[in-house]
Amino acid sequence: MIDKIAQIKDEALQSIAAATDENSLNEARVAVMGKKGTVTLLGTIMKDVPSSEKAAIGQLLNATRSAVQNALDEKQIALQSQADLAALAGIDPTLPPRALATGGLHPLTLLRERAVGILRRMGFSLAEGPEIEDEFHCFDALNTPSDHPARNPKDTFYFDSGKLLRTHTSSVQVRTMEKQMPPLRIIAPGTAYRRDEIDSTHLSAFHQLEGLYVDKDVSLPDLKGTLEMFLRELFGAQTAVRFRPHFFPFTEPSFEIDVLLEIKGQAPRWIEVAGCGMVDPAVFEAVCQSRGDRFFDSSRVTGFAFGMGLERLAMIQWGIRDIRLLIENDIRFLKQFA
Ligand code: DAH
Repeated sequence: MIDKIAQIKDEALQSIAAATDENSLNEARVAVMGKKGTVTLLGTIMKDVPSSEKAAIGQLLNATRSAVQNALDEKQIALQSQADLAALAGIDPTLPPRALATGGLHPLTLLRERAVGILRRMGFSLAEGPEIEDEFHCFDALNTPSDHPARNPKDTFYFDSGKLLRTHTSSVQVRTMEKQMPPLRIIAPGTAYRRDEIDSTHLSAFHQLEGLYVDKDVSLPDLKGTLEMFLRELFGAQTAVRFRPHFFPFTEPSFEIDVLLEIKGQAPRWIEVAGCGMVDPAVFEAVCQSRGDRFFDSSRVTGFAFGMGLERLAMIQWGIRDIRLLIENDIRFLKQFA
């Protein structure tokens, strides 16, 4: 009996050792440990063993089974690592990995996030309004007369309904004052649309960053200090900034802001970056009418507003000569910002 067990064990171990791959190992596994496997069937001899020997034979059987199982497990691991090594043949695992292409943010996004970050630190919070606007919020409430060129269907995208694609983010000024109470200090980055011929400095869909500050006694020096500080944070402490008198229907007085652009090898030139001014009392009056109260009465509050072109700021920031680069998705251009 003991000899028979030893013999079956030896045969089992040999067949396992002889397996050369996963298939032959599986065959060996079935042949020895399967339902009708040689080692499994050894269990049936127990009934013929005299009871005096049952304990000893039982122990021997258990030891045999676990030896065979161990041999199967070890062989499986050995075959697996053999297969792994074979898969690596011809590959040098000590080579450094290839760099991952991780992508990056679009320059306009980078610029908007920086600009918004600076203004938020100065106490402005974000506001927004719809891109499909009505004439009231885009023009009338902003003191823009009906014969103003911006209202011409040649310059502005109108829908049959009479609504339009907002021509500037200044409409968010009105929307915000309708909903919030003074004092308020908001910025609204967003898209604006004009029927402009696309060229190196114009797109028909572009981005602006609007700002509005309304409180008791907001003054022109507040406007000037805020925007100078903003532009120097954005472009560097040495940046020269100038305010040039201008006209906007919704501010009085109004200014355009220029930044002195100094590119090596080129004569320095002033570039317009924003419009701004003190909120016109006519705008406050339209807001009061729309709200049906006097919280924005111009005898109680004053304010300043500004609007800048984000594409313009990006072009200055990185010396981009053609605005169309910002929408062409040319990877050679975008890669430089990643
Ligand atoms: N909305 C003006 C434009 O698109 C820019 C602007 C000028 C915004 C003066 C303002 C402002 O808030 O006060 O050209």
